Amino acid sequence: MTTPPLTPTTLRCGYLVNPLGVAPDRVAFSWMLEGTGHDRYQRAYQIQVTPAGQPPADSSGPAWDSGPVTSSCSTDIPYAGAVLTAGRQYTWKVRVWDDTGSISAWSDPAAFEVELGRTDGWHASWIGQGRAQERATPPDLPGPVDAVARTLTPAPYLRRAFRVGKPVAFARLYVTALGLYEALLNGRRVGDGFLTPGWTDYTRRILYQTYDVTGLLAEGDNVIAVILAHGWYAGFVGFDAKRAGAHYGAAPELLAQLVITHCDGSRQWVVSDEQWKSSAGAIRHADLLMGERHDLALEPRGWERPGFDDSGWRPAGCRERDGTPLVADPGPPIRVTQEIAPRSIASNGHGQHLVDFGQNLTGWLRIRIDGPAGAHVRIRHGEVLAADGSLYTENLRTARQTDEFTTCGSSEVLEPRFTLHGFRYAEITGYPGEPGPGDLTASVVHSDIAGAGAFKSSEKWLNRLAENIDWGLRGNFISIPTDCPQRDERLGWLGDAQVFARTACYNRDVAAFFAKWLDDVSDAQLNSGAFADLAPRLDLRNIRGAGAPAWGDAGVIVPWTMWKMYGDIGVLHRHLGGMTAWMDFLERTNPDYLRTRELGNSYNDWLGPGDDDTPPELLATAYWAYDAALMAEIADVTGRADDAAGYRALSSKVRSAFNDAFVGADGQVASGTQTAYVLALHMDLLPDEVRASAADRLVAAIQGADWHLTTGYGAIGHLLPALSSTGHAEIAYRLLEQKSVPSWRYMVEAGATTMWERWDGWTAERGFQSPWMNSFNHYAFGSVGEWLYRFLLGIDQEPGTAGFGQLLLRPHPGGSLIWARGTYRSVRGPISTGWRRSDDRFTFRVELPPNVSASVRVPSGQAAEVRDNAGHPPASLGSFPGARDVREAVFHVGSGVHEFTGPAMPDSGHPW
Ligand code: BGC
Repeated sequence: MTTPPLTPTTLRCGYLVNPLGVAPDRVAFSWMLEGTGHDRYQRAYQIQVTPAGQPPADSSGPAWDSGPVTSSCSTDIPYAGAVLTAGRQYTWKVRVWDDTGSISAWSDPAAFEVELGRTDGWHASWIGQGRAQERATPPDLPGPVDAVARTLTPAPYLRRAFRVGKPVAFARLYVTALGLYEALLNGRRVGDGFLTPGWTDYTRRILYQTYDVTGLLAEGDNVIAVILAHGWYAGFVGFDAKRAGAHYGAAPELLAQLVITHCDGSRQWVVSDEQWKSSAGAIRHADLLMGERHDLALEPRGWERPGFDDSGWRPAGCRERDGTPLVADPGPPIRVTQEIAPRSIASNGHGQHLVDFGQNLTGWLRIRIDGPAGAHVRIRHGEVLAADGSLYTENLRTARQTDEFTTCGSSEVLEPRFTLHGFRYAEITGYPGEPGPGDLTASVVHSDIAGAGAFKSSEKWLNRLAENIDWGLRGNFISIPTDCPQRDERLGWLGDAQVFARTACYNRDVAAFFAKWLDDVSDAQLNSGAFADLAPRLDLRNIRGAGAPAWGDAGVIVPWTMWKMYGDIGVLHRHLGGMTAWMDFLERTNPDYLRTRELGNSYNDWLGPGDDDTPPELLATAYWAYDAALMAEIADVTGRADDAAGYRALSSKVRSAFNDAFVGADGQVASGTQTAYVLALHMDLLPDEVRASAADRLVAAIQGADWHLTTGYGAIGHLLPALSSTGHAEIAYRLLEQKSVPSWRYMVEAGATTMWERWDGWTAERGFQSPWMNSFNHYAFGSVGEWLYRFLLGIDQEPGTAGFGQLLLRPHPGGSLIWARGTYRSVRGPISTGWRRSDDRFTFRVELPPNVSASVRVPSGQAAEVRDNAGHPPASLGSFPGARDVREAVFHVGSGVHEFTGPAMPDSGHPW
């Protein structure tokens, strides 16, 4: 029987499926392979790219034919053909030669469209309501009313009627806003994205979206209609209420370009210009932090369709574009990804209802009402309930997250769409009658990033933790990785992002998302080379802004993580300049190789129960040495051998300075905090001879804290990996399973459905932590997710490799777990592992996609007796890190399903 050839599937360009806008220098191709049997791999590939799409048809043949290329690479292969034409559509396909020598059929074609020329591709002008801004009535709500009243004005409505005289072959709408936009063509919403165009530093780059609107146009009369909102550009963001409306600009504006190609090849352009009309409608204000207010009686009925009389509307205010680059959105769109029905609805009998959705989430509520016109419905949102059972909102600080609707018909659907609320509970006032469960729906809104991870184990609470980690990501990955979705902050802190980045990759396919954010990081970098603490950067009170240890270092750690997880070398090339400038900045300011100067607004080991006890210079110097080691690896893979040697030399100088300043001959690290040991071990700063004793001291420090962790954002992601890789897997489990505060399990058992900002966000003894900083949806402590996948499930890569081509499958069973199984959908396809232990047996099962090789290391009390499912003995024996009587049976396998069974590890007897 012959083996069928491998088939290329899941074609992506720039990590997106058929993107309608890609920068020409980011056109790079990836695919996965499907096929049956064992040990299947790709020997060679061929890619063909052909101009397509709009007439006149191009008959000049492919723009690029790679010819057969002998390589197993299937990710991030850069386009290398003729110059790509801006705005043009191309199709591409791939075929592969596999291990049997067979050639696959050509894949189904995929497509991409090249972005417009960043400055010369646009013929539109910025338009808005001009000077005649209507002032909203200050909402009757507590808080800084002056600032709110100054900023919150009605959402501009803009429309333009036009005629289409001939049949349409092909039409694209290119659109963006300073602020947020929602576009409609002939009354139908364009696209399914929300909060477009997303957040960037609008003074440096503005993203736009491209839509295929061929099917929305009609021959004859047409109307394009757009609603604008203040968004990040002109609304509240961050915690400096006084500056709302002043971060970038005061009022939102639109830039739109509709390009219609007729069947006869002629083109028609409809662009934003002075021919548009403007007015206002039902949306009296719309703000990301504050919420929305709609007065439905004020909606100009039919304005979004042809035939509406707009003679009473004002001409739009219009200004010419400046040179700010307009860039096709490289990230995934923000969408409604799930709808959740209430778990309970309680009425207080006085026209107020409290709704529990059972899950802390980011999004908004959709309400169906059937009652008299003129009803006034107000919805407040909160993450938790106060002790008396009422909605707790103190931790929102000045963010109101309140929506209000005044109805005008008898049966209406009320829903905001230019705001975001972090909530599990909603308090509804003024609902006419009693809402049923079908009348209230929570829409979950975030960057729509495909799931990559699945985790299940014999411990229910741990499964909930894994879900909470993912919900933390979903609640905060909104155009950028924000810190929290509810209070007056919602900023792109670099420290949080770097400690969580690898966990994020294991949970979801964040390649395109982080590619976009790394451009923001680059835009925010100072001329000195210091990376800012925030990206996009904002000038906020109390924040000095750049260079903070563990924050600025994200500028190296996150690109390196993208390379590691996705094999993305393009991202390294794009950011080499910025990373080099950062390294130069550190060396220039700290000539003695201890990082003691220019620590900016040092946050040290932020929110660790022991954060004040770790010297800030220790954490800073550790991160510097780590950056230097990663830079050496980056220089290697980008082919710069001299730089690699230079960074290795730098890394050893910083390491020596670290050891001289902080490490004793007995392995004692400075203050003896857990963080000090975790960083020294994880970042490989210690001489070999003291590693074991430093690891023992880490364990002693944990014991000294009565088997609790004391690490904060600077070290938390590395705590369990440092323990497991120094032979203390059982201590890692002990921290994982710790039930009392501070611990992960404590949060879960206290009812958390997301990750909390603080270990003690709420305790039975003290109640809530200070409302000034107590978010219940911050992802940083969720960085333990990396350990769940890499160590517990054992889905890892051989050291020094990237992109999951050479796997290291080394499970770390332990604690009270009897079994665990999971999948990571890598760039090469899904990798699944699962283990189960009984009193005397241990079984490990792996399922691997084509085109990978794996070392499987099965822990066992008698490793020589472990067998694979064909009865083969191990290829060799190894040793399980640090464990005295546990050896590893080592097997080498390729694609397919493999199962290994052998005598169990000796029971640790759980000393606790
Ligand atoms: C944010 C954190 C952030 C920190 C920096 C906090 O307000 O919520 O996530 O990293 O500030 O100090």
